[in-house]
Amino acid sequence: MESAQSPESPRSHAAGAQPLLRPEAPLAHPFSIRLRNLHKAYQTGRGRLVLFDGLDLDVEEGEMLAVVGESGAGKSTLLHIMGALDEPSSGDVYCASTQVNQLTRRQAAQFRNRQIGYVWQFHYLLPEFTAIENVAMPLLARGETKARALERAEKWLKEVELSDRASHRAGELSGGEQQRVSLARALVTEPRILLADEPTGDLDARTSGVVFDLIEQLHRAHRLTSVIVTHNMTLARRCSRILRLESGRLTVISPIAEN
Ligand SMILES: Nc1ncnc2c1ncn2[C@@H]1O[C@H](COP(=O)(O)OP(=O)(O)OP(=O)(O)O)[C@@H](O)[C@H]1O
Ligand SMILES: [Mg+2]
Repeated sequence: MESAQSPESPRSHAAGAQPLLRPEAPLAHPFSIRLRNLHKAYQTGRGRLVLFDGLDLDVEEGEMLAVVGESGAGKSTLLHIMGALDEPSSGDVYCASTQVNQLTRRQAAQFRNRQIGYVWQFHYLLPEFTAIENVAMPLLARGETKARALERAEKWLKEVELSDRASHRAGELSGGEQQRVSLARALVTEPRILLADEPTGDLDARTSGVVFDLIEQLHRAHRLTSVIVTHNMTLARRCSRILRLESGRLTVISPIAEN
């Protein structure tokens, strides 16, 4: 269903404070993602590697999309392009009402900090800092006061059910706890887009389930639009849609066909 909202006047969740909003971004819903005619090629020692050759994708606002595919298919590259960590060779990338492929480096950093929550297979927490300090870091990076950043971080540690680990060093936490802290860090800036690259890839089956439950819970509670790359079909089947990336194309997977 089309939004009543005009594409010319995207809604902002912090009205008046979104210098990166591009009114021309043709998104009916402000927290959706749209890739159009995306091309990505790398020049390598062994010639040109074409990853995407005219790829299109729409991720609906509120969708929890799984992307699966063989190693090397370009799944991480796809997430990086959506989240302004990498640039396409050509094509248009719209995400959270922003034409991502037209941002300057500085704008891209600001866009990532404000609009995107990233979770990786490896947590990239700073091991010598406490859980709460790690969660507070994106807020400190954007100039929030320490008191305010720690207050928000405390709230997010509660959301991932780790309040009792707040003052533990990140390096002393279990793998599952570290991934929960990295989820809190991804969402502490209150983005509406979550990009997760094999978020359970390093965890055992039981812990993967726990972390995925949490992602699902946060996705619903905070009305996120989530794109989750995973090799785990059991987890992928819990998403609203599964796409397989293969030879630069995205195809819809019917969960039944995979059984
Ligand atoms: N900077 C780069 N220069 C050249 N080739 C690159 C570069 N970055 C990625 N590639 C290549 O692009 C292809 C896709 O990489 P990508 O990391 O997106 O795959 P992936 O689907 O995420 O794989 P995995 O499941 O192993 O994480 C790979 O063959 C990789 O070697
Ligand atoms: Mg990858």
